[in-house]
Amino acid sequence: MSVNKISDNDGSSEIKETLSQNKAQKDAKLAKVQDGIKLSKKQMKRMLKHEKWIATKSERKKREKEKRKAKIARKKEAGELILSRKQIKSQLVPQRDSPCKVAVVIDCDYADYMNDLEIKKLCKQLNRCYAINKHNPKPVQLYITSISGKLKTIFETYQSGYKNWDCVCSDKHWFEIFMNNNGPGLEPNLIYLSGDSENTVGECSEIQQLNNAIFIIGGLIDHNRHKGLALERAKQNKVNHAQLPINDHIQMTQRRILAIPHVFEIMLYAANGTIGQCWPDIFQKVIPIRKLASGDEQ
Ligand SMILES: C[S@@+](CC[C@H](N)C(=O)[O-])C[C@H]1O[C@@H](n2cnc3c(N)ncnc32)[C@H](O)[C@@H]1O
Repeated sequence: MSVNKISDNDGSSEIKETLSQNKAQKDAKLAKVQDGIKLSKKQMKRMLKHEKWIATKSERKKREKEKRKAKIARKKEAGELILSRKQIKSQLVPQRDSPCKVAVVIDCDYADYMNDLEIKKLCKQLNRCYAINKHNPKPVQLYITSISGKLKTIFETYQSGYKNWDCVCSDKHWFEIFMNNNGPGLEPNLIYLSGDSENTVGECSEIQQLNNAIFIIGGLIDHNRHKGLALERAKQNKVNHAQLPINDHIQMTQRRILAIPHVFEIMLYAANGTIGQCWPDIFQKVIPIRKLASGDEQ
């Protein structure tokens, strides 16, 4: 890159020169050939960013620990009751002991429809769903299915602890898990959730009485590029489908497609009754109205 030296009195030319030298060094680095494969500038940038992310992991953890400590100190000062990690852990209800037997599946069989950044975002959202469920006194039976291929690699990189989660994490497709079950017992009642379905989920009191209900959430972050894809999957697999009854209870100016953690949290409360027995209470607690009013919120 050429350097335009402008004579001045305030040193701005030197700053410009340094900046352009930095840029030239960066560009040279970006032109690097990796293992015989020439990477594009964008790929190389992404790779360097990822390398930096890995290299600064311990530093980041330390910073987060300090932040947590400061937060606890602030809470203590405000006279709030602080529970230790051990105390919090001892209060958690294992999924198998939960009185709530309704299952919620997050179907991750959509990796081919997402780029790496969207998959990474999905991994974060799976973590969020798991945390919400884990800290609830009546967790639902959470299944995360089709963890394979590219999604598995990214999940293992960013949420390496997922294999120890107290929920079912499987590489199998939900259909294989639930529909091939020929043993005695209730037939599974599968409902694929889709904002595009013409059906609506029933009352919360009905859901709470079903102990064979399995609600499936599409593990897809697509900013609605693939409108109706989850509905299509439900139809292909010949299972029931329904949308949340948002329009019956909340006035919305924009689309009613919610982010996965919000759909999950709504279904958790609808299934276990911890927020009340009716949809309006649940929607008010979970849906960020401000965001809904300004567009979709994936
Ligand atoms: C971010 S949305 C993905 C939207 C995607 N275009 C699709 O075809 O579903 C993620 C998932 O949340 C669930 N979801 C989002 N909004 C919903 C609504 N209003 N009613 C029911 N399910 C919803 C669906 O299972 C959906 O697949």
